[in-house]
Parts: sequence; C-alpha cells; structure tokens
Amino acid sequence: MNKKNSKTEILKMLKERSGQFFSGTTLSRKLGVSRAAVWKQINSLRSDGYTISSVTNRGYRLEAEPGTLDSKILENNNIIYKHSVDSTNYEARLLAESGARGFSTIVAEEQLQGRGRLGRSWVSPPECGLWFSILLRPGFLTPAEATPITLVTAAVIAGYFREKHNLPVKVKWPNDLLINGKKFGGILTELKGEPDRIEYLIVGTGLNISQTVENFPPDLRDKATSLYIESGISHNRTSLLLEIHKSLVDAYELFFREGFAPFYENWKKLSSTMGQEITIKWAGGTLSGKAVDLNDNGALIVIDSRGDRHQIHFGEIT
Ligand code: BTN
Repeated sequence: MNKKNSKTEILKMLKERSGQFFSGTTLSRKLGVSRAAVWKQINSLRSDGYTISSVTNRGYRLEAEPGTLDSKILENNNIIYKHSVDSTNYEARLLAESGARGFSTIVAEEQLQGRGRLGRSWVSPPECGLWFSILLRPGFLTPAEATPITLVTAAVIAGYFREKHNLPVKVKWPNDLLINGKKFGGILTELKGEPDRIEYLIVGTGLNISQTVENFPPDLRDKATSLYIESGISHNRTSLLLEIHKSLVDAYELFFREGFAPFYENWKKLSSTMGQEITIKWAGGTLSGKAVDLNDNGALIVIDSRGDRHQIHFGEIT
C-alpha cells in the first residue's frame, strides 16, 4: 500500500471505531505496512490537525478532528478573521495606522511569524490555538498608566478558565498563563505613543487549545501545555474566543474607568510567584528576593536579602 493510501486507511479505521484504541501492531497488520510506517502516518495526520493520542500498550485513538475557526460567526461578532498572517499584532498595527477604532479585534487560524516577548517566536500552527490581537485607544492614559493592561488580560483569562473549565490556571508576572507550572498562554502588549499620551495599544494573546503533547516541538514539550492536554476535552475554539473576547472587552472598559484597583486582589490571588523567592532578569540586571506586592502601575515589588524594596517594571522571572 502506498503512503497516501495507508494514511487514508488509518484515518478511516480510527474514525470508524472512534473512542477505541488501535494498537500499532493491529494497524500495521491490517494495512500490510511496518509499525514505523504507521507511526509516520499518525504523525502526518497530527500535522494535518487531527488530535490522536497514543498510550503505551493500548495504541492510538482519534480524539478530535481538525476544526477550523468559524469565520462567519466571528465576523458577525465584529472579529476580523484571517486564515494566515505573519502576526496578528502586526495586522492590528496596520489596522491602527489606517484609523481603525478601539476594540477592533483580529484572529488568525495560523501565524507564520508569531512573536513572543523579548524577541522570541511564538509557535502558532493552524487549528491548534487562539492567536488574536485587540487594538485599544486609551488616549487619556500615559504609557505608564496603561502598563497593567497585560496583568488585567492575564487575570481575566485565568479567571475565565478557572470558572468555566475548572482548570487551575495561574498568572506569572507579567504576561504568562500557566497550568500546573507549564505555559498555557502568553500576552504581548505593544504600544505607540509619546511619554504623556498613548496613540494606540495592541494586546496580543496566544492560547494553546487543541495540541497534544506530540503537536508541540520537542523542545517545548516539557514547558508548554494546552487546554486539551489539561482537560482531556476537545473544545470549539470559536465559542471559546467569543466568550473570552467578551470578558476582555468588559474588563478593559472597567480598567479605563477605574484603573487596576478592581483587578489587584484577584491578580495577587492568581499569581504563581507572589510571596515566593524569585530571581528576576532584565536587560542589564538581575535581582533575587521575595516578590511581595504590585504597585498601582503593575510593577512588581521585590524585597532583597538586605531588606531593600525594589520596584521592577520589566523583566522575566526565572
Ligand atoms: C509571550 O508569552 O512571550 C507572549 C506571546 C504572545 C503571542 C500572541 S499570539 C497573538 C499575538 N500575535 C503575535 O505575534 N503574538 C501575540
């Protein structure tokens, strides 16, 4: 049997007996190909977006078929949908420069050059996650006053998954979303403005939704996780995005009226590092101490071993 046929046949068998495991040996015997060939085709199906679990001594099971985002539903809810972009933050910047209104939102099925903080890349394959950016125009805030928007975003999303999906999502200052210590999502906030006035802000969020462990590149497998890995359930990404988007828009409106105060207690409760000994690194410096609080602008307050108090505005906790 040629490669293409064996892939189609494997898919057919997994679909016909959905919910059941097929051992690699059974599949290889039925198709007359080697177990290595079966494994190769399973991986190829995974790259096509099929969620296939593999369990030692049981075999392979089809968990979910690839599901694309529903562009019609999204556009009816004023969310711009693109199939493939370099980065939704970059697309949002183009929208901003062409005069788009605050709260304009763009989501992409895949990003070819997804960006993370500190110049890192953000792996954003199709049918796996939610990669979206929201344009905001709080012209009445200074860049310093707007800094907590990243913390607000993290706290709202963590709260959403805790309440609606019963998952122990935590926030790690300033922009990480963690489940059981692994990275579930991240936020990249970018800004154009002057020291005393913001022209626009772009809040880009990436959430890992449908990936199996095998869908992540090998170097991320012990660091990253997804909603599917943590809950064992396949979720409809369109409905998830609509719910999260609504919570974020409500939260941003509240933040613009009342600042960070309404989010402060909740953020501290959700934090994975508050009250812990940490080391924080930034361009040109490192500090070790105890993370004890946040100030009004979302800076992290750290007390070092000599008892000195530091306000950290940028950096990465290691
Ligand atoms: C990080 O944890 O370093 C931040 C990751 C932010 C990823 C999102 S995905 C949507 C938006 N577009 C990007 O290129 N990056 C952000």
